[in-house]
Amino acid sequence: VTAVAKRQDMVVHQRDPLNAESPPEVLGAAMQTPLDAFYMRNHGPVPKLDASTWRLRVGGDVDCELELSLDKLQERFPPRELTATLQCAGNRRAGLIAVRDIPGEVPWRGGATGTASWRGVALRDVLAVAGLGSEAKYVAFLGADVSEEADPPQPFGASIPRHKAMAGEVLLAWQMNGRPLTPLHGAPLRVVVPGYIGARSVKWVTEITARAEPSENYFQASAYRLLTPELDPDLAPPGSGVALGAIAVNADILSPADGSTVAAGPVEIIGYAFAGGDRHIVRVDVSDDGGARWRQAELIDPPAPWAWRRWRVTFTLPRGRHQIVARAWDSAAATQPERAEHVWNPKGYANNAWPRVNVDAV
Ligand code: MTE
Repeated sequence: VTAVAKRQDMVVHQRDPLNAESPPEVLGAAMQTPLDAFYMRNHGPVPKLDASTWRLRVGGDVDCELELSLDKLQERFPPRELTATLQCAGNRRAGLIAVRDIPGEVPWRGGATGTASWRGVALRDVLAVAGLGSEAKYVAFLGADVSEEADPPQPFGASIPRHKAMAGEVLLAWQMNGRPLTPLHGAPLRVVVPGYIGARSVKWVTEITARAEPSENYFQASAYRLLTPELDPDLAPPGSGVALGAIAVNADILSPADGSTVAAGPVEIIGYAFAGGDRHIVRVDVSDDGGARWRQAELIDPPAPWAWRRWRVTFTLPRGRHQIVARAWDSAAATQPERAEHVWNPKGYANNAWPRVNVDAV
């Protein structure tokens, strides 16, 4: 019942662990990304969990520790549902690799992101019963998968600040797009942290711990951090740079493809735009001459607090080569940097430079 076969045209970067992104046409076709095309980002093998014996432990700086089965969780707390975009911090890394190589990291294009409806309980409701202690400035999550990529090998973990954990939108989810969560996406239960990099949405979650400090897990303390360009990630001590949390305004062009040939005349440009934290997309500009002159795209999707907005605009392209570029603006009037050179960083995260697509109109 829970198995959903993925489409054959997923862009597979790695089989073990499985890392694959969505084909761009699928992302452009609907606001909600179909399950069979939703990207998969794994740091270790998918753990084999039995939902009937699986338990969630809530502990650390709380008044009362909890141990919950899936049935108990569903019985005890009201269900919540929301639509949220999940976006990997490594999304669009290929654009940074083109500037300077980033060895050992997945060369994601713009498909390490997708939008789904998630159903579960609010983390806030569970934490309210456990009772957060006054020292608990962070809430940490631990998954059941053991990653050999970590130093030393350890289960995948993350943490978020208390204010985010208590904000209401963070879910402990067992359903995605109205279907039971599949093993690949974190069954029986995963965290969904809307507006934050995907790495904080821990799959196969087994432990929630209230803490005075951020998680010491490798994926919080060493990976998923924005390092200054001169740092060597293998030598940088844990805690270097800035832990990534809220996602900056970003956009990508889904169609036409870079390097493609189109018929001269009207050409529809389609893409997505997303802003994390509590920001949302208010405008997308598109240019067919590398950014000298801009036009506003039509926003296809209505504004929604935690989801992307797809956009489209039609340009009449005369014969010749054209560079299509886009830049999104968010509700804090922030926009995207012009060039990937300006945001290059040693682990290749958070590339939100203008997407650029070269097309030949014939
Ligand atoms: N949770 C666990 N336990 N293990 C992981 O490897 N990957 C994280 C996050 N949660 C990961 C995890 C990253 S980096 C991302 S982008 C999202 O899961 C991807 O979720 P998805 O595979 O369901 O698309």
